[in-house]
Order: sequence, then structure tokens, then C-alpha cells
Amino acid sequence: MNNSPFPTEPYAIEKMKPIHLSAVLAIEKKSFPQPWSLSLFMSEFTNRLATYLVLRLKRKVIGYIGYWYLFEEAHITTFAIHPDYRRQGLGKQLLKHALNLILNQGCHEVFLEVRISNFPAQNLYHSLGFTAVGIRKKYYIDGEDAIIMKKIMSQES
Ligand SMILES: CC(C)(COP(=O)(O)OP(=O)(O)OC[C@H]1O[C@@H](n2cnc3c(N)ncnc32)[C@H](O)[C@@H]1OP(=O)(O)O)[C@@H](O)C(=O)NCCC(=O)NCCS
Repeated sequence: MNNSPFPTEPYAIEKMKPIHLSAVLAIEKKSFPQPWSLSLFMSEFTNRLATYLVLRLKRKVIGYIGYWYLFEEAHITTFAIHPDYRRQGLGKQLLKHALNLILNQGCHEVFLEVRISNFPAQNLYHSLGFTAVGIRKKYYIDGEDAIIMKKIMSQES
């Protein structure tokens, strides 16, 4: 749990639970052209390599992030903030929180894929030290390429 005066009211970050899924699915639909289904999120609850977090303002879930911890490296699987709450620094706080958890698990390399057209997310990742390391051609169902981004972390960074 993380409480902070940033940005205008206290927010909390906690592990995603089934009770959060209706809000998560609503954000997912507003955020991605091919949203994840309820059953996909449900199946992730039984994946012992997966961690999913939600960000709440009071009781309202307004964002989430997921990652897989694959021994030496972690992989961000999904990440979104409700459109009404974007550009307030909340996405950055949520990603930073996940990166700290990953580092505290002893993992120093984090990977993700981002659409080549998704400049908001790319800007955010660059601002936290991710760099582009490759392209996955036609990675998305609609044929768009993905940029593979990587961040190397140390306890000092
Ligand atoms: C990407 C996303 C999670 C960012 O969340 P957010 O809460 O709006 O991001 P923040 O307010 O923390 O932004 C942090 C930085 O990211 C960059 N950024 C965020 N939104 C941006 C935008 N629309 N245009 C340009 N840069 C942007 C900026 O550098 C920003 O810092 P600044 O506001 O000081 O300039 C959000 O836009 C989102 O949910 N998008 C749809 C889903 C998605 O694309 N997920 C990522 C899949 S790889």
C-alpha cells in the first residue's frame, strides 16, 4: 500500500483482486483496441509468475499494471490509466511502484512491448529510463509493429 500527497488526493496501490475486475475491464475497453477478456484476467490470478496491481483514488480503481517475473527478467504485460485521470502523473507513479517491487524481487531487467504509434506510453517509458532495443514486426492483431523496450535497474538507480 502506498499513500502519497501526489497528485491532488491520496492514492493507494494494491494487489488486483477479482472484485476490481469490473472497473479494470471498463478501463481496458477504453484503452486498447483489442482489450483483454474477463477470463484472461481471471487466468492470470492463478499464474504464479504474474503480479497485477491496481491504483485506487479513494475506492475507485483508476489504473492497473501487470508483470510476469521470469527468473532473471520481468515483463510488463498490461498497463493503463482511466482516460479521465491521465496526464496527472499517476501512470508514472504506478509504473515506478511496480519497478520497485520487481527490483526488490531481485530482478534487474524489465522488458515491455509498445505500439510504434503509442507516443504517450513511449514518452513515459523513456522518462523512466527504458530504451528501445528492437522491433516485433506485426506484433499486434491489426498488423502494427511493437517496439521492444528494456530497462536495466540497480539498487542505486
Ligand atoms: C500510457 C498511460 C498509462 C500513461 O498514463 P498517465 O497517467 O497519463 O501518464 P503520466 O501522467 O504519469 O505521464 C508521465 C509522462 O508520460 C508522458 N506522457 C503521458 N501521456 C502523454 C501524452 N498524451 N502525450 C505525450 N506524452 C505523454 C509525458 O512525458 C508525461 O510526463 P509530463 O506529463 O510531465 O509531460 C496512459 O496514457 C494510458 O493508459 N494509455 C492507454 C493504454 C496504454 O497505451 N498503455 C501502455 C501500453 S504499452
